[in-house]
Amino acid sequence: MPRIASRVSQLNGEGALSVFARAKELERAGRSIIHLELGEPDFHPAAAVVQAVCEAVTAGRDRYVSTRGIPALREAIAEYLQLTRRLDVTAEQVLVAPGCKMALSLAMMALIEPGDEVLYPDPGFPIYPSFTRGLGAKAVPFGLEERNGFQPDLGEIAGKITPRTTALIFNSPNNPTGTVFSGDALRQIAALAEKHDLWIISDEIYARILFGGEYESIWSLPGMAERTIIIDGFSKSFAMTGWRLGYAVAAKHVIDAMDLLVLNTFTCTAEFTQIAGMEALRDSTGAVGAMVAEYRKRRDLFVAGLNRIPGFRCMAPGGAFYAWVNIEETGLPAEEVAKILLEEAGVAGIAGAAFGAGGKNYLRFSLASALELLDEALGRMQRVSSKWRAAVAR
Ligand SMILES: Cc1ncc(COP(=O)(O)O)c(C=O)c1O
Repeated sequence: MPRIASRVSQLNGEGALSVFARAKELERAGRSIIHLELGEPDFHPAAAVVQAVCEAVTAGRDRYVSTRGIPALREAIAEYLQLTRRLDVTAEQVLVAPGCKMALSLAMMALIEPGDEVLYPDPGFPIYPSFTRGLGAKAVPFGLEERNGFQPDLGEIAGKITPRTTALIFNSPNNPTGTVFSGDALRQIAALAEKHDLWIISDEIYARILFGGEYESIWSLPGMAERTIIIDGFSKSFAMTGWRLGYAVAAKHVIDAMDLLVLNTFTCTAEFTQIAGMEALRDSTGAVGAMVAEYRKRRDLFVAGLNRIPGFRCMAPGGAFYAWVNIEETGLPAEEVAKILLEEAGVAGIAGAAFGAGGKNYLRFSLASALELLDEALGRMQRVSSKWRAAVAR
């Protein structure tokens, strides 16, 4: 048999999908399941965005287009980042891709060599270490621990930098903890990046989903624009997950390198999606603000309710749409608690180890469900919590 390339064996999947598959199986058997496992908004894009894509397709905007994205969208992204994040970015520093994940993988392919060491947050998005290993590099975790409010420990990061370290990836607000990295943490990461000549890959996909304050991007710190690659997209802020639209922002020579990778792989992002993306960025109906206000209500209700469940402890996330719950006091492994919740209460969540070793005693629930459903989920969880109280007592 011809072989599969060894890099594939270095990759891992995403935990949410296996839970989702089991939850679907239970639903087919007639069970009522509340889905809190997937990181997918329950909203859909604004009507104007849907209309824009229909008009674009009708107008024949379905041809091959520029590999790095149509100029009008790249301009619009630069303006949007100025408006929403006060970033000085030009259109030539922007590359459009089919999804944030694709922008991320292009950046990683352009910058990471086999044998390099890449720092990434644990818990964090599982694709960072997975794709790092796939590129033949070493993925080196740095902790986001509850005792530090899930902020990075800069002493730990500094101690893990070696001559082989070439990049640090992070995500603020973080999936799964919801932590918004403090200004102090950003400044210290920037100082380390300058000192050790590192690339910073800043995954800002949740930047708009913030429950207070203004977003600060590491790009805006002195000297950081030349060594930072911002990764962002339309999936979360504009509820456009299946549209596959994302982008990277970086120095022109990095964008040029990524552009050559686009040419050698998927050629371009669909033009009609890009045109609809421009409408999303205009946000003419204030859809983003309305969505974030709704997430905030859900966060407040759900986090308060979780903290009333015996054995659960949850810090309110500063952004993104997840509740990250410490279940240590249940006395059971997170996998067992997740199983009880799914099989007996019909509430689907993910055991935290899916996000790294640091997630061992945690569960992640997504807030991408209506308030009534979240409330119902809390009631169900409260009812089955007698299970672990009994289990602990034995
Ligand atoms: C941190 C993070 N980055 C990237 C993505 C993927 O975004 P996209 O759907 O645009 O590829 C996700 C989705 O869950 C995410 O949580």
